[in-house]
Amino acid sequence: MDRKVKWGVIGAGGIADRRTMPGLVLAKNAELIAVMDVNPEIIEGLKTKYNAKYAYTNADDLIANPEVEAIYIASPVVFHAEQAVKAAKAGKHILLEKPIAMTVKEGEQVVKDVDACGVLSACGFMMRFGAYNQAIKKFIADGGIGQVVSAKAQFTCWYPDMPNCWRQIKKNSGGGAFVDMGVHCIDLIQSILGTTVEKVSAIIDTKTFKYEVDDSSSVLMHLKNGTNAFVEANFNIPDAAAKWRLEFYGTKGCVTAFDTIHQLDTGSVEITLEDGSHPTLDVECTNLYTKEVESFSNSILTGAPVEVPLKDGLQVQKIVEASYFAADNDKVVNVDKFFE
Ligand SMILES: NC(=O)c1ccc[n+]([C@@H]2O[C@H](COP(=O)([O-])OP(=O)(O)OC[C@H]3O[C@@H](n4cnc5c(N)ncnc54)[C@H](O)[C@@H]3O)[C@@H](O)[C@H]2O)c1
Repeated sequence: MDRKVKWGVIGAGGIADRRTMPGLVLAKNAELIAVMDVNPEIIEGLKTKYNAKYAYTNADDLIANPEVEAIYIASPVVFHAEQAVKAAKAGKHILLEKPIAMTVKEGEQVVKDVDACGVLSACGFMMRFGAYNQAIKKFIADGGIGQVVSAKAQFTCWYPDMPNCWRQIKKNSGGGAFVDMGVHCIDLIQSILGTTVEKVSAIIDTKTFKYEVDDSSSVLMHLKNGTNAFVEANFNIPDAAAKWRLEFYGTKGCVTAFDTIHQLDTGSVEITLEDGSHPTLDVECTNLYTKEVESFSNSILTGAPVEVPLKDGLQVQKIVEASYFAADNDKVVNVDKFFE
């Protein structure tokens, strides 16, 4: 029988239960053996639901389990750094949710400490595995729309004030809509175009709700390949009105993607070329989280390069932090120089 990587999950009650564990159990080279959540009321139910061998309410106990080879960390952001480093020190490979840490400084320490342990590590930018997003990347890389001059991405949800919600408390989340949802937009634009952000200017504020983190963010970016990009992330647009567009405009045409910024491997793409034609992209959509877990498990089993390395999460965090600074100080910020 083909070998399967044995996975444990820390923070199993949120997105892990909604999306990642249902995807993980479909992965052909992975097996979910342990779940952990601090909420004692849900943990036995999760163990049964996913047919896991072990259930814990303390992350240290899951980390100490010698059978666990890889750990998916989906706890609130404030716990990421400590849990990731502890897991790596115990020799576990790590798939860490975005944002990887509270700050760039903390994220740099995580990447350094995890690398020093000699384990593999990945960041949870699962949208990179989207069938359409990968097809768009290839179409653009093959010159399909010529020189890309402009890119846009928008990701939103409705997230009203809720008492004690960790995402709405800055010391637990690090920020609001931009760090929570904007990171996917930044990562997709950079990975699809194969470049990184050079400088940012931003308007980020809280317009609608009473919480201390941002509910509205609009960030203008200049990429190192010369493309201008615009990213918007909001917590104050009704889900029914959400338009999760991803758009690229070039000297020979444009690509407009609808709903490929999504937790499902879904969406549609409209391409328009200079001669008025509309070529189509043929893709097969499956499950983003299955692909994410299969990819990382494959790296563990075969030594193949990690497709979404943890350091990419740190690089995106630099853009986020530079953007918050740009917004707070009415400045255009060069990201590399800001962190020199
Ligand atoms: N990639 C994606 O699709 C995606 C989607 C949503 C959230 N996320 C990320 O996943 C992480 C969790 O977000 P969420 O929406 O699932 O939050 P959530 O609040 O819905 O769930 C978090 C879970 O962690 C548990 N928890 C709290 N403290 C813990 C601790 N110290 N140790 C272990 N578990 C603890 C909670 O009981 C809860 O079950 C965040 O980093 C978020 O940005 C990623």
